[in-house]
Amino acid sequence: MENVLLKAENLRAYYKLEKVSVKAVDGLSFEIYEDEVVGVVGESGCGKTTLSNVIFMNMVKPLTLVGGKIFLKVNGSFEEISALSRDEVKEKFWGKEMTIIPQSAMNALMPTIKMERYVQHLAESHGLDARELIDKTLQRFKEVGLETSWLKRYPFELSGGMRQRAVIAVSTILNPSLLVADEPTSALDVVNQKVFLKVLMSLKRRGIVKSIILITHDIATVRQIADRMIIMYAGKIVELSPIDELLEKPLHPYTEGLLNSVLTPEPEVKKRGIVTIPGAPPNLIDPPSGCRFHPRCPHMMDVCKEKEPPLVEIEPGRRVACFLYAGERT
Ligand SMILES: Nc1ncnc2c1ncn2[C@@H]1O[C@H](COP(=O)(O)OP(=O)(O)OP(=O)(O)O)[C@@H](O)[C@H]1O
Ligand SMILES: [Mg+2]
Repeated sequence: MENVLLKAENLRAYYKLEKVSVKAVDGLSFEIYEDEVVGVVGESGCGKTTLSNVIFMNMVKPLTLVGGKIFLKVNGSFEEISALSRDEVKEKFWGKEMTIIPQSAMNALMPTIKMERYVQHLAESHGLDARELIDKTLQRFKEVGLETSWLKRYPFELSGGMRQRAVIAVSTILNPSLLVADEPTSALDVVNQKVFLKVLMSLKRRGIVKSIILITHDIATVRQIADRMIIMYAGKIVELSPIDELLEKPLHPYTEGLLNSVLTPEPEVKKRGIVTIPGAPPNLIDPPSGCRFHPRCPHMMDVCKEKEPPLVEIEPGRRVACFLYAGERT
């Protein structure tokens, strides 16, 4: 636990609708170490955004934490944030210890509110001196390649790439340990994607943030900066691995299919030939029994329909939830 910043134990969070529940995060256990970038990938609807909300205890109805625990290291000791209410976590930790760039953040900025106003609001909500925080933001703007005059502009006056950089500058202004970015580059062109990833990495290098969780569909993007990857399928983690090993030899049949369906095949993937995943992701109200991937899996066995494969470590640092590896536990 020494280098662990965040620890999740068997997290389960469902959207509780009138008659049914959408099991969007269903039994996730993982840890995020200090000083690392972890990519979270998986098809649309597999629960990535839900997971980010759960990590922040941003439980807004109908999303409900139905089980599990989350611990965050704050000043050297672990706080069980899952034991607190959303408001308590928000007040104590959001912005200061953990921050999120939500999916489509740059489009969520109010067009009629100047960037400066967001900083003033942040200062007010944390009881900080607004002038000092604005000075700090101006400095941060320079560091991420934004002109300081832009703080006095309206979001609609900035391009998408600039807005996204402004969002990250403002959201990390209190030096939070953990930054979660949900699809931060998917609306940007390739040049702005590169710039944005550079900004992310420089924030980490300079110790402004310790660890980053980068959520994306796009493996080509994460591979540029991630140390480890979490592969999600239908509300579950199917594989967790250092990135180089994962690209070299994906273990889970879903990971293999996912890597193969990356639009511009990477050399490692090309080498293996193309095997795409047939079918579509399941409905999370009534997911398949056993392994949720079994109806689409080219290696399906009888046991896969009946039992759920646990996520087990089969090589140091590599975990996979698949009966193909049942005998290989380390
Ligand atoms: N407010 C909601 N009420 C009910 N179901 C929801 C709600 N929000 C999300 N879901 C469902 O929860 C599941 C996971 O959604 P989530 O947004 O976490 O997926 P995602 O992996 O982030 O997808 P994307 O890549 O498209 O952003 C999906 O089946 C989705 O339909
Ligand atoms: Mg999402």
